[in-house]
Amino acid sequence: MRIPRSVREAVVAGKVVLVRADLNVPLENGEVADDTRIRASLPTLRLLLGNGATELHVCSHLGRPKGVDEAYRMAPVERRLRELLPDDRIRVLENTRFDPGETKNDEGFARELADGCDVYVDDAFGSAHRAHSSTEAVARILPAYAGLLLEEELRNLGKLLGDVERPFVLVSGGAKVEDKLGVLQHLGGRADTVLIGGKMAEQLRVENPLDFDAVLPVDVVGAAAFEADAESGVYEVDALPDGWLGLDIGPETRTIFAGHLAGARTIFWNGPMGVFEWPRFAEGTKAVAEAVAGNSDAFSVVGGADSVRALNELGLAEKISWVSTGGGASLELLEGKELPGVAVIPS
Ligand code: 3PG
Ligand code: MG
Repeated sequence: MRIPRSVREAVVAGKVVLVRADLNVPLENGEVADDTRIRASLPTLRLLLGNGATELHVCSHLGRPKGVDEAYRMAPVERRLRELLPDDRIRVLENTRFDPGETKNDEGFARELADGCDVYVDDAFGSAHRAHSSTEAVARILPAYAGLLLEEELRNLGKLLGDVERPFVLVSGGAKVEDKLGVLQHLGGRADTVLIGGKMAEQLRVENPLDFDAVLPVDVVGAAAFEADAESGVYEVDALPDGWLGLDIGPETRTIFAGHLAGARTIFWNGPMGVFEWPRFAEGTKAVAEAVAGNSDAFSVVGGADSVRALNELGLAEKISWVSTGGGASLELLEGKELPGVAVIPS
């Protein structure tokens, strides 16, 4: 895993620094609902301020707005950031995606971002799989360095691509099946055991496109409809009534998965086992979270917004070796791809 040159090497005294962070956080009623990513960006900001930068222009995207959209202004994010790190030298720029050039990796928009800045620091690991103006083009305009979070993410996720302690157990779930097949194919052969839950398990049972053996659920919590309070019950996978949906892994599957996780020395978990936002279908995800957190002998990495949210809600995040701020980014990295936001920063 190539680690690009570090912000620690940047001479920033008396300089204006453009910092790309991933402050794409969930909002609820106009306020920040989870500030994990904001807190994760603080060490780099503190380092730059401590090293004498005169101004930090902090930029990020927020959500997926099409042009200027009042619901996606950076104001609530800026408020939270200022509470956590009150310093007049910080200036938070408006949502980068308000500019149509951003997602096209437009050089003109990158020049606007770079205007008045001397150095660029990319700390947005969660967006490093996007070749956008603020993550890619701008790094070809200003001298570019990797922020502390970006470095730590690459180091920790990189461990899963090198020699790992065995058994290596991979747990995957969630709904975005197409996004995950690549990483499963790449890592599946390297892992000793692959546990699959969630919607992906159902799809694999029908189509089975994997070229390795995976442990699939033997039972599910089935529901008559995709609703929080739908009629539901536990069924063996083959006995689910016609038209019913499996919305969580069942109790027997939880025990099997927990058993594999208890004996692991390396764990990577991405994606919930069911619709955990609805309490009746949260037990599978909870069981996996507890089993991963409960194995203190293992090097454990958890990525993906939903899995991380589940850990936070259960108060288990501190028991994980590395909680990644990247969802899609961590998956693409583990697929063996070099991320565009990383590739553009020199060594
Ligand atoms: C994320 O939340 O996965 C990152 O911030 C990237 O966001 P995007 O998927 O909208 O590019
Ligand atoms: Mg994403």
